[in-house]
Amino acid sequence: MKTLIVYYSAQWHTKTIAEKISAEIGADLFEVKPAEAYSEADLDWTDGTSRVYREHKDEKLRKVALESTNAPDWDSYERVIVMYPVWWGIAAWPLSSFVTSVDFGEKEVIPVAVSHSSPLGDSGKLLAEAAKGGDWKNGIRFSQDATDAEIKDWTKTL
Ligand SMILES: Cc1cc2nc3c(=O)[nH]c(=O)nc-3n(C[C@H](O)[C@H](O)[C@H](O)COP(=O)(O)O)c2cc1C
Repeated sequence: MKTLIVYYSAQWHTKTIAEKISAEIGADLFEVKPAEAYSEADLDWTDGTSRVYREHKDEKLRKVALESTNAPDWDSYERVIVMYPVWWGIAAWPLSSFVTSVDFGEKEVIPVAVSHSSPLGDSGKLLAEAAKGGDWKNGIRFSQDATDAEIKDWTKTL
């Protein structure tokens, strides 16, 4: 199945895992980039005045402007793996901003969450509900410290 991995990574954990999955299954990669990148200070969830904290508190602020939502050759992919860090139990909103900007049509879509400790929870289901189209699967959550063996084992199930 021709597969595209669309990922957002604020720090580097999701990016690293996305690249490992890509190498295992031969998928292409598309990185979602906010028009205004998040600085370390922006990401400080312990600071009640930080950008991410304010966006978390006010859902209206979570539709983030992106550099691009035009993944090259989008129409040619049969399957899309969408990967994101978990922020307060849900998909980091730059990724959900991508998901709500495109039409998945008939594509199979697999959500992959990366977190410190939270489970996949409803993060994938919420993306599926917000998206246009797509045959959304249950998905998986990886620890930010996932081992190569864990990643490889999962790719074998695809
Ligand atoms: C704003 C913010 C909120 C987070 N919320 C959670 C959370 O609810 N549960 C959790 O297990 N980890 C949480 N984390 C940790 C990240 O999900 C985790 O470190 C992830 O691997 C980061 O991916 P990245 O390096 O690709 O950005 C949060 C991190 C940030 C910056």
